Amino acid sequence: MNRENRRNLYDTAVKWTKEAGLHIREKMANTYNVDTKAHQHDLVTDVDRSVEQFFRDKVKETYPDHRIMGEEGLGEDVHDLNGTVWIIDPIDGTVNFVHQGCYFAVSIGIFHDGEPVAGVVFDVMSDELFSALAGEGLWLNEQSLPRLAEKAIEESLLSFNSGWLMKDRRLEELVNQSRGIRSYGAAALEMAYVACGRIEAYISFNLAPWDVAGGYVLIREAGGTVSNFKGNPLTFLKKDTLLAANANVYTEITEILDGMDQQN
Ligand code: IPD
Ligand code: CA
Ligand code: CA
Ligand code: CA
Repeated sequence: MNRENRRNLYDTAVKWTKEAGLHIREKMANTYNVDTKAHQHDLVTDVDRSVEQFFRDKVKETYPDHRIMGEEGLGEDVHDLNGTVWIIDPIDGTVNFVHQGCYFAVSIGIFHDGEPVAGVVFDVMSDELFSALAGEGLWLNEQSLPRLAEKAIEESLLSFNSGWLMKDRRLEELVNQSRGIRSYGAAALEMAYVACGRIEAYISFNLAPWDVAGGYVLIREAGGTVSNFKGNPLTFLKKDTLLAANANVYTEITEILDGMDQQN
């Protein structure tokens, strides 16, 4: 894909994401259905589905040969990243959406033949749109963001869900050594925060491709490091663990975790 086509795709993704944000605000003004999916932590609403439908219709009409991988299953069953693939989380942070009416995001990651092209993460209620065009830059709304500066773990805020402390006790050492832990409940937004330097790392043990695709493009453009917990690249084809961080904080975190392994 040439530079002009990549830029057009990025512009289109930003435009549609803003439209999706307006659509969500309109829908929020009325009542909507809330269903529980696998367990009480996992909700879905009519709004999630209608946002995914909105992107599906737009993409199919404008780019009939592009494929869609979306959380609510309205796209294709995607098993490879050949051609152009839109990885869509219509609402990331649905629990926040339902309970708090804020702190949720629309997340889009676009890949071409497995390479990232564009990432868009839109915090609808705070009107903050994080976007990246691979190799060309990273923006918060209209403002261009710099690459991440070096940070030490002692001066770093990290983010993960509190439940992960029960899954991996080594995380306690990160609580001890960092400046503090935050939990926002919206993976895409937490990755956008890593990309813009509001936090230095985001950790999870169970994320789907749509949770991470948009944020991945942002963090990569900011010069941060993203991998699964074993240090392997993400495939964007299955659920995986995640360590997404400022580059040198990433190194410090892996050293701390490896050190804990050797003690055990
Ligand atoms: C969820 C959120 C949450 C994370 C979950 C995700 P959803 O996405 O990103 O923060 O802990 O693993 O599934 O379901 O609200 O799109
Ligand atoms: Ca969900
Ligand atoms: Ca999600
Ligand atoms: Ca979702």
